[in-house]
Amino acid sequence: MPRFLLALLAMFVTFPALAQVEQQTSVGIAEAFASSPDGQIKVSVTTDGDGRPYYAVTRAGKPIIRPSRLGFMFTDAPKIERNMMIAGSSTSRSDTSWDQPWGEWKTIRDNHVELRVRLVEKTPVAPGREIDVVFRLFDDGVGFRYEFPEQPHLKTARIGDELTEFDLAENGTAWWIPGSEWNRDEYLWQKTPITEVPLVHTPFTAKFDDGTHIAIHEAALVDYSGMWLQRVDGTKLKAVLEPGADGAKVTRALPFNTPWRTIIIADDAPGLYRSHIELNLNEPSKEADVSWFQPAKYVGVWWAMHLDKYSWNTGPKHGATTANVKRYIDFAAANGFKGVLVEGWNVGWDGNWFANGNDFDFARPTPDFDMAYLSAYAKKKGIRLIGHHETGGSTTHYEQQLDKGFAFAQANGEHVVKTGYVTDAGQLERVDPDGKTFREWHDGQYASNHHLKVVTAAYRYQIAIDTHESIKDTGLRRTYPNWISSEHARGMEYNGWGNPKNPPEHEANLVFTRMLAGPMDFTPGVLSLMGKGDKPIQSTIAKQLALYVVVYSPVQMAADLPENYAPYAGPMQFIKDVPTDWVDTRVLNGEVGDYVTFARQARNDPDWYLGAVGDEQARVLSVPLTFLAPGKTYEAQIYRDGDDADYRTEKRHSIVIEKRKVTAGDTLTLRLAPGGGQAIRFKALK
Ligand code: NOJ
Ligand code: CA
Repeated sequence: MPRFLLALLAMFVTFPALAQVEQQTSVGIAEAFASSPDGQIKVSVTTDGDGRPYYAVTRAGKPIIRPSRLGFMFTDAPKIERNMMIAGSSTSRSDTSWDQPWGEWKTIRDNHVELRVRLVEKTPVAPGREIDVVFRLFDDGVGFRYEFPEQPHLKTARIGDELTEFDLAENGTAWWIPGSEWNRDEYLWQKTPITEVPLVHTPFTAKFDDGTHIAIHEAALVDYSGMWLQRVDGTKLKAVLEPGADGAKVTRALPFNTPWRTIIIADDAPGLYRSHIELNLNEPSKEADVSWFQPAKYVGVWWAMHLDKYSWNTGPKHGATTANVKRYIDFAAANGFKGVLVEGWNVGWDGNWFANGNDFDFARPTPDFDMAYLSAYAKKKGIRLIGHHETGGSTTHYEQQLDKGFAFAQANGEHVVKTGYVTDAGQLERVDPDGKTFREWHDGQYASNHHLKVVTAAYRYQIAIDTHESIKDTGLRRTYPNWISSEHARGMEYNGWGNPKNPPEHEANLVFTRMLAGPMDFTPGVLSLMGKGDKPIQSTIAKQLALYVVVYSPVQMAADLPENYAPYAGPMQFIKDVPTDWVDTRVLNGEVGDYVTFARQARNDPDWYLGAVGDEQARVLSVPLTFLAPGKTYEAQIYRDGDDADYRTEKRHSIVIEKRKVTAGDTLTLRLAPGGGQAIRFKALK
C-alpha cells in the first residue's frame, strides 16, 4: 500500500470518532476544518495545485487571516513546502479549568476544539516527510503549532526558517516595536497602518477598521527560536526566527513540537487582555511545591543607581553598603514591604560589566557588604533580601555558577533573584566546552534553553526568578511557576535616564501589547516624579498609584528612594494597601495607547482595586461598579488627579484623596489629567 494511504489509515485509527477529512485522493486537495466551541471562529487547511499547504481563519464569517502558507526551510535539506497533501485530520473537544498558584485570575477555563492535520510529502522516491499542524480553537482566538513525528527520512531538523505566514485580511492600525535592533525589546511602541509594519517583535497588535482587534504572539517557547514578524507585502506578515550562532536557527532531533503561534481575536482592546490563550497553550506545572514563594511588594537599592546618586561598583558612591542596606530594611519594615532588592552587592561591577559579565561572582559580596549580618537583620524584621544576578550577557559564565549562586542566595534567606542580561541584541556570550566562543540572540534557541536551565536550577533552591533583558515571555510561568516575572520592555528605568523618557501613552500601549505575554517587573511608584538631574517624569502621582493595578506582576516594587516617600504619606497609603495577587481581573474599558481601566479583586480579602491610566490627553471615563458584590457596601478610597493636575507642569503632583460609600449600583466618573490616572481601593464594609 502506498505510504500516504497508510498514513491516512493511521489517522483514522488514532482519531476514529471525530475524524473530519474530506476524502480526496492522493492528489491532495482535501480541506480540513474546525470551529471554535461557540462556532464563531473557523480554521480551514487546504493545499493549492502545487501542494502548498495553507491555513485560513474567519470569525463570524469575516476573514481574519487569509489563506497563509505553512512550512519550513532547512539548512541541509530541501524545504517542506510544495508537494504536500493532507493525509488525514481529526478534531477533539476539551473544556477544563485549572488554578494559578498566584496571578491575575485564580481559575482559568480552557475551552477549546483541537484540529490535527497531517501533512505528508508526495514524492516519487517513497516515503515523504510528514508533519502535523495542530490548531486549538478558542472562542477568543487560535493557536497552532507544528509537530514533527519520528520518521525515517528526517532525524534532525536544522531549520533555516519557518515559512509560516499571517496574511491579515484587511488593512488597519498596528502597534509594534522593531525586531532585530540593538536595544532588544526596549523600544517605544509605534502606531502605523498595517501596510507600513517593518520587522517587528511579538506580541504584535492590530485593529481592523471595523474595530476587530487581533494580537499575534507565541506560547511555550521551549528549545526553539523566538519569532519576529516581517511584512512581506500589503498586510501579509511572515514568521522570521531569531538567528542562532551555529547557522541553523533551530536544531532539533525528532520528534519535537514547535512553540504555538497565537492569534487573539477580539471585538475591542480589552478583549485582547481577557484572553487566556497564552497560558492555556502552556503545559501544566512541573513544579510540585511553590508554597515557599509569596507574591509581595518590595523596595530596593536600585532607583538611586539609575539617578546616578549611587553606583553599582564599589567606591564613594557604592549603594550596596551594609549601613545603607540596613536603612532600606528599616524603611521596608516600617512600611510593610516584604522584600529588599540589593543591586551591586557582589564582586564583578568594578570593571566594564556592560556586555562583559565574566568578572561576576554570584556568591561573593563586596567587602563593604556584610551579607551574613544583613540577612540576619532582615530576618529579624520579617523581611527577605532579593538577590540580583546581573550577567552582562555572559551566559556560560553564569551557568557555571548557578548552583553556587542559588545555594548562597538560599543560605541567606532569599526566595527571589532578579537576573539581568545587559548586552546588545545578538551579543549573549556562549562558550562551548572546547573554549570556542559564540554570540547568541536574547530570544534565540540557545537563550530559550539557558533561561530554563536557570529557572529549573533556581527551583531546586526554592528561588523564584525575575528576568530582565530576558527572552520574551510566552506563558511559561504556568509550567515553571517560579519564573515569576520579567521585564522585556521599557520599564521605569527609562524615566530615570531620559533618552527619551517614557511618554504618557506608554503604559496604555504596554497593556495591549507586551502585557498580553505575561507579568512585567515595571517598578512603578516614583511619587517624587523626578528622574536623573531632577528632570520630571511624564506622569501624575495618581497615575503612579494606578500602575500597581494596571501592570500586573506578583512582585511589585515601590521604586522611589525611601527619603522621597516622606512628603507623600497620603498617596503612599495606596501602595501599602494594594495587593500583588488577584482572584479576578476585569478590563473595564480601553483603547490601545490611549487609556485603560482595570478592576482586580484581591486574593485574600473581599476588597477590589481599580486602576485607570490615560495618555497625554485629559479624559473622562464613566465606570459602572457592577463588578462589586451585589448588596454589599464598600468604602471607595479614591486617589484622583487634582483638578489642576498636568504632567507638563509643576501641578503634576496635584492629587485629591477622598472617601465615599458605594455599591454595585453606582457609576463613578473618573477624570484623568493629561498624563494622569486614578487609583481606588474598594474596602468591603462589614
Ligand atoms: C537593567 C535592568 O533592567 C535594571 O533593572 C538593572 O538595575 C540594571 N540592568 C543593572 O543590572
Ligand atoms: Ca532593562
